[in-house]
Amino acid sequence: MTNPENRPGTSPNAPNSAPNSLAQIGVVGMAVMGSNLARNFASKGHTVAIFNRSPEKTRAVMEQFGSEGAFIPSESIEDFVASLERPRKAVIMVQAGPATDAVIAQLVDAMDEGDIIIDGGNSLFTDTIRREHEVAQRGRHFVGAGISGGEEGALRGPSIMPGGPQESWETLGPLLEDIAAKVDGVPCVTHIGPDGAGHFVKMVHNGIEYADMQVIGEAYHLLRYAAGIAPDELAEIFTEWNAGDLDSYLIEITAEVLRQKDRKTGKPFIDVIVDAAGQKGTGRWTVKEALDLGVPVTGIGEAVFARALSSALAQRQAAQDGDLPAGELSTLESLGVDRDSFVEDVRRALYASKLVAYAQGFDEINAGSQEHSWSIRPGDLARIWRGGCIIRAKFLNRITEAYENDPDLPSLLLDPYFKLELAGLVDSWRRVIVIATQLGLPVPVFASSLSYYDSLRSKRLPAALIQGQRDFFGAHTYKRVDMEGTFHTSWSGDREELDY
Ligand code: ATR
Repeated sequence: MTNPENRPGTSPNAPNSAPNSLAQIGVVGMAVMGSNLARNFASKGHTVAIFNRSPEKTRAVMEQFGSEGAFIPSESIEDFVASLERPRKAVIMVQAGPATDAVIAQLVDAMDEGDIIIDGGNSLFTDTIRREHEVAQRGRHFVGAGISGGEEGALRGPSIMPGGPQESWETLGPLLEDIAAKVDGVPCVTHIGPDGAGHFVKMVHNGIEYADMQVIGEAYHLLRYAAGIAPDELAEIFTEWNAGDLDSYLIEITAEVLRQKDRKTGKPFIDVIVDAAGQKGTGRWTVKEALDLGVPVTGIGEAVFARALSSALAQRQAAQDGDLPAGELSTLESLGVDRDSFVEDVRRALYASKLVAYAQGFDEINAGSQEHSWSIRPGDLARIWRGGCIIRAKFLNRITEAYENDPDLPSLLLDPYFKLELAGLVDSWRRVIVIATQLGLPVPVFASSLSYYDSLRSKRLPAALIQGQRDFFGAHTYKRVDMEGTFHTSWSGDREELDY
């Protein structure tokens, strides 16, 4: 392979590279996400350097897509780096973890001071913090960028959440704005904050996605198994819902999935899929981090657990074989519930639970931002999630507005618009959970979200009793409602109250 900096465009593997020019951006990793991102850059008129550990993949990309734009393929990392304009900018799109570390090490060695390495994978934000530190020590810049939107988003316009130094954003921003999704002409990308801020936000985005998918799943399950509505009709219902408050990509694809007929059997496609949901880990990371930050993300947590429970196939089978007692179950008919009003109640319960999940996700982002001094602007996130990404939805505009009106909003649920919405949803939400319980149908996120909501509203919580118990067995002390200070009661002695 020739070195393009010395003899640009002369490589036999580069029939479509732009002669006499260096690349504005490079992409390492020519699996689906990487090659689609490279094609996206090229489609916007940029010359794109491409490299993959196994050269066959690079050759295959050139063969299939080389004519789409100006690519400079390389078969060594040194050639790849030499084919980039300075400051060099290279996006890594390889597996998260050790593969990403390996590629970073190669790039750092081959690059010079001031060059920028961008990790576009789903890296854990603490890895990103570490990597930025290590790369900075070698005089290069490191940007951990969350990229959402899957294969299609990478190709046609993703939502991009870059962290890293402000200086890198100034160089990189225009390029990322070019390839990002646009909503009302506004690119779905913004500088999120320093070091790991971008990957942190992408992580919580994915956590919210888990909850969003689960609440849609719960709505589907109720309509199917409580109201007995067939998949074809459900597809129509979800299509209708997609024209209202719930307008979103996930509702739209739900209708598509429900409408699909299995090609092999002619049955509804939904009925031939094993009901065990997979996960790659970002939902779990979101919950683990929330536990450390002390932020209740019950919706995301229940969604992660629901996937885990669904996948515990042997245990589920044992429970069915063991005939766990269900008690006396009702039906919609026996409860005298009208089908159409139930459908509308379920829509409202879904909307309310979704609001809670988003409110909790934003709480985690705000807490993370504070913990790491990232100064994340939550309204900007809602703005860049309106397009490109999996949780894109119309109602994100409302979240942006909520934070524009009050950047210090204690909870999204307290925004006047959402409060008004909740007033119209809460009765239906309660009814749906009561009915689901009476019918023995699981609604983990619907139910836990309502409990969270009621906890938030409650004047008194049972935490007072917990403090009493903690003081009793462990002298953990408590505070009083009527005076300052910390107290302990001598439970094993005369039960006098002592000042601490
Ligand atoms: P996707 O999900 O987009 O299909 P992935 O599985 O996340 O991709 O990542 C696969 C990419 O990581 C491939 O480009 C792979 O390179 P090879 O084609 O040579 O296998 C790349 N990759 C994995 N481990 C790597 C490593 N240690 N060094 C460099 N690249 C690596």
